[in-house]
Amino acid sequence: MSNYVLNTWYPLTWSRNVGHALTAHQILEQQVVLYRTEGGKVIAMEDACPHRLLPLSMGKLRGDAIECGYHGMTYDCSGKCVRVPGQDLIPSSAFVRTYPIHENMGLVWIWMGDPAMADPGKVFDLPQYHDPRWSAVEGDALEIKANYLNLADNLCDPAHVSFVHLSTLGNAASEDVPVHSEQQDGKVVTWRWVIDAPPIPLFAKHGHFKGNVDRWHYYYYHAPSIAVIDFGSAETGTGAPEGRRDNCIQIFACHFITPVDQDTCIDHWLHVKNFQADAQVNAELSADFRVAFSEDKTILEAIQRNERRLPSRRTVKIAIDAGSQRMRRLVERMREAEAPTA
Ligand code: FES
Ligand SMILES: [Fe+2]
Repeated sequence: MSNYVLNTWYPLTWSRNVGHALTAHQILEQQVVLYRTEGGKVIAMEDACPHRLLPLSMGKLRGDAIECGYHGMTYDCSGKCVRVPGQDLIPSSAFVRTYPIHENMGLVWIWMGDPAMADPGKVFDLPQYHDPRWSAVEGDALEIKANYLNLADNLCDPAHVSFVHLSTLGNAASEDVPVHSEQQDGKVVTWRWVIDAPPIPLFAKHGHFKGNVDRWHYYYYHAPSIAVIDFGSAETGTGAPEGRRDNCIQIFACHFITPVDQDTCIDHWLHVKNFQADAQVNAELSADFRVAFSEDKTILEAIQRNERRLPSRRTVKIAIDAGSQRMRRLVERMREAEAPTA
């Protein structure tokens, strides 16, 4: 687990998927069982009975306690053993590790590090998600057979949309537009503006523009595993690059990544936009994002396979890599800060 930043809130699953039933999850190579109590609180425990290590997710809920599916040892929602069938004595080592949990933005967030450092006030939030003038639509949990930092590379990379997402998020007009990046407090921002160019297919469909547009892409990567992509367009000449965005279309595409293990991650994506829409338009937008993100999945999984085949191959760096290099350095510094000092 030392390959990961531990003291941070990670997205684990959609809140909508957690009910009064046991579900098994994997994050940072650790197995976790999750359930919602009768009172509505989400509980996370290590998915291993301390007796013979049977996954507790194979057991049963008895009220808010888990009864192991092998010999019936029972653990309350603090992980404390409250029953050992056939004996009165409960061994002092019979407890299960629990993890701090918080829910926000439709997601269950988990803290895998030192529980004393888990501050729910630090769980990621996007204010527009809660703002009635904006509208938020939850997407999917997309499993990608790739290291989560390779997905992070993709989410610090506005340049690829001109080549990968031609039916949705990109067009050839931006192929040669340079990309900028900088590090801010705990995050990396990568951006570019495409001035006086035809709208990308998604905005042509929903933006109702008459002519060319000025388009921005700001990719905010909150290390280690959250990306928010602010992208939008306004009619050219209306001052969007100078900050006037009154008549723009703007979408935040959010990616909340669960690092499952070194070769797998789950991208929980949702979108938040500055206009209201009916269920059909929302479904169309989600369908377009689904197409785009499955294009990324295809690429990232192919790269992962090649990285496994060519582990010592040095790759070439070009200008557009500056954002992802900053992101990787930031994650590395977070990991180093947690490494025990000798
Ligand atoms: S393995 Fe759980 S009670 Fe025996
Ligand atoms: Fe992409």
